[in-house]
Amino acid sequence: MSTPQHIAIIMDGNGRWAKERGMERSSGHEAGVETVHRITEAASQMGVRYLTLYAFSTENWNRPESEVAALMSLIISSMEEELFMRNNVRLRLIGDIDRLPEAVRKSILGTVERTAGNTGLTVIIALSYSSKWELTEAMRAIAKRVQAGELLPETISEATIGEALNTAEYPDPELLIRTGGEVRLSNFLLWQTAYSELYFCDTYWPDFQSSDLQAAIDYYNRKERRFGLTSEQVTTTAQ
Ligand code: IPE
Ligand code: IPE
Ligand code: MG
Repeated sequence: MSTPQHIAIIMDGNGRWAKERGMERSSGHEAGVETVHRITEAASQMGVRYLTLYAFSTENWNRPESEVAALMSLIISSMEEELFMRNNVRLRLIGDIDRLPEAVRKSILGTVERTAGNTGLTVIIALSYSSKWELTEAMRAIAKRVQAGELLPETISEATIGEALNTAEYPDPELLIRTGGEVRLSNFLLWQTAYSELYFCDTYWPDFQSSDLQAAIDYYNRKERRFGLTSEQVTTTAQ
């Protein structure tokens, strides 16, 4: 049994969780913040090295203004520094953070800075993130290097692209989890999940427990990761 070193989670189902209880969608997001804390602590205790959490997508900017505002203030309060310090967690961000309101950006970047020396779990929050945005930015940066004569098109490799992404310094996630019942990626880490194990569960994010995280890890452990090889080849190399 092994624990994946990088787990990515699409935290979905807050709105439906609230609606089923006759509550406002924002109450679902509030409950979801508790889950972020619970799962950060659990992942840290399980020895996970990187946990990427999809908190707000590029597409989510198109939600009603009041919901976006509620989410923005919740994002600030969810970055519980005391919990990060207690668990030796380092906070990082990916996404188009220039689009965030100044107060949100400053607050989170402050936490990123103050937790930079922590050496345990790295929590990467995907905020105002979409994979197509990230890839477009990467293509632009690479094109500029070619234009400046620093890079020849024929030397562009998978590594060149990987290094131009927001996630350059992190390994690809071995396991991707989506809560809330939908079986889609919603523009999340399309490049990085090329060979991830995908785990979808119906549980709404506010109800997601550390035992559910363990169930996802157990699922991952039952998989034979073949990377294009035959089962026989994988078994022989593993011995
Ligand atoms: C996920 O929950 C949180 C964000 C996308 C910010 P949703 O708000 O998408 O909840 P559902 O999918 O409507 O239930
Ligand atoms: C994906 O959830 C984005 C986040 C969890 C932040 P959505 O609820 O926005 O995804 P779709 O629109 O149902 O695909
Ligand atoms: Mg949703």
